[in-house]
Amino acid sequence: MSERIIIFDTTLRDGEQSPGASMNAEEKLRLAIQLEKLGVDVIEAGFPSASRGDREAVQMISEKVKGPKIAALARTTREDIDSAWRALKNSNRPRINIFIATSDIHLVHKLKLTKDQVKKATVDAIQYAGKFFSDIEFSAEDGSRSDKEFLCDIFELAIDAGAKTVNLPDTVGYAMPDEFSQLVGYIMKHTPNIGNAVMSVHCHNDLGLATANTLAAIKAGARQVEVTINGIGERAGNTSLEEVVMGIYTRKGHFDLTTGIKTNEIHPASRLTSLITGIVVQPNKAIVGSNAFSHEAGIHQDGILKAPITYEIMKPETIGLSSSRIILGKHSGRHALKEKIAKLGYELKDEELESLFKRFKTLADKRKEILDDDIEAIIAEEFLRTPDIYKLEYLNVISGTAAVPTATVKMAIDGRVEQSAGFGVGPIDATFNTIAKMAKTKSVLIHFSVDSITGGMDAQGEVMVKLKEGDFVVLGKGADPDIITASAKAYINGLNRLEYVKRSSKNT
Ligand code: KIV
Ligand code: ZN
Repeated sequence: MSERIIIFDTTLRDGEQSPGASMNAEEKLRLAIQLEKLGVDVIEAGFPSASRGDREAVQMISEKVKGPKIAALARTTREDIDSAWRALKNSNRPRINIFIATSDIHLVHKLKLTKDQVKKATVDAIQYAGKFFSDIEFSAEDGSRSDKEFLCDIFELAIDAGAKTVNLPDTVGYAMPDEFSQLVGYIMKHTPNIGNAVMSVHCHNDLGLATANTLAAIKAGARQVEVTINGIGERAGNTSLEEVVMGIYTRKGHFDLTTGIKTNEIHPASRLTSLITGIVVQPNKAIVGSNAFSHEAGIHQDGILKAPITYEIMKPETIGLSSSRIILGKHSGRHALKEKIAKLGYELKDEELESLFKRFKTLADKRKEILDDDIEAIIAEEFLRTPDIYKLEYLNVISGTAAVPTATVKMAIDGRVEQSAGFGVGPIDATFNTIAKMAKTKSVLIHFSVDSITGGMDAQGEVMVKLKEGDFVVLGKGADPDIITASAKAYINGLNRLEYVKRSSKNT
């Protein structure tokens, strides 16, 4: 029987470190439930000592998600370990991931510690964590740029102290595949007790090599891979789950390995991640990009029709991409809508379905056909995003060649309805100025873009904004057939997210 690769998903921890991708506890829970459905082995739910928001999310997930192991990140301090334990104590399968940097660069410039001090901190932390946790992972931050003998020493000490998994991160995405696999091979050969632990790798994509490095490491003996959905993460991102899993699946003969991933949940997981975080998947992204299965060239189309094997190495159905796009219209009822939602991979409560149905009917009155993307945009806006502090109640805009653009906005602020009006150089500027004045925000709008969700003159407009206040950067999204309303919704969604990250970052 083929050996199984452990899939450690860190979308909710490292993935959330993508600029603007912050998620609140409810959003993280939604995603964790999908990750469980997807069949990941470990969910790294957060870094509890980093913020109150992370603590709450890890706690909520460990109470509600019982299939996969739930991991939390910690530095080597007792405070971090205590905080991780408090957040994880209700999990039936808790894991702590203790990390410290091991490269000379980090030791000299960041930690200002000697190698012996790093060894001692590692052993002390693992022994202390052993009081609470039976499942301990140790991560050597910046491992790929560390001295390889030191890596073997520290992994040996970590395993003796109680670590069941030792993780080698390519923290800055610097490694080359041949080099990285040699390093994994070296560690496997020169760490005497490595047989008592699982060898793991964690790659970043700064040179576009995260998947290549991860697969090369598997070939050299790594048996856990740390990945994120859509490859989101710090800077250029982390190794993408779908690329590694489909690599192993598609090239069975090459790897002779398996994973516990239900591949038909890959596409729903990708969509949900994108809808919740607001991070759009690039169209040519491997596996989950919108172009990944579309064949444009005539020669390719001809080949596919004659025999799919000519140009198709994977089937869209394998990753859960349904080829039948059932189109809904104004005569479609609740039943058809419910079926469509289930097909798209969402589970909504009865009251959510009812409210979605109302919005669907409003849209169907304006549009002949409602496509999957329209439905998903509404789901994202209504149910997948941050609970509202600010909520748009009413918007009226006057604009034109002879008028001063003026917006009148009615907005609920923490449940209290307020109204105001303001001007701008155009209708969107007038709307944003008015909302900003009402919310008394200090944030700056650093990005604004409009896209059409489905194409066509009557398509819904999808607006994305990026707001910045101090060190906080958030994304906001809104969809509506009227792009000024969509803009107002996106701006308000951004303000809600900003409030959330500001509140949850207060480490109280
Ligand atoms: O990239 C990295 O080194 C990490 C560690 C904290 C595991 O994310
Ligand atoms: Zn990382």
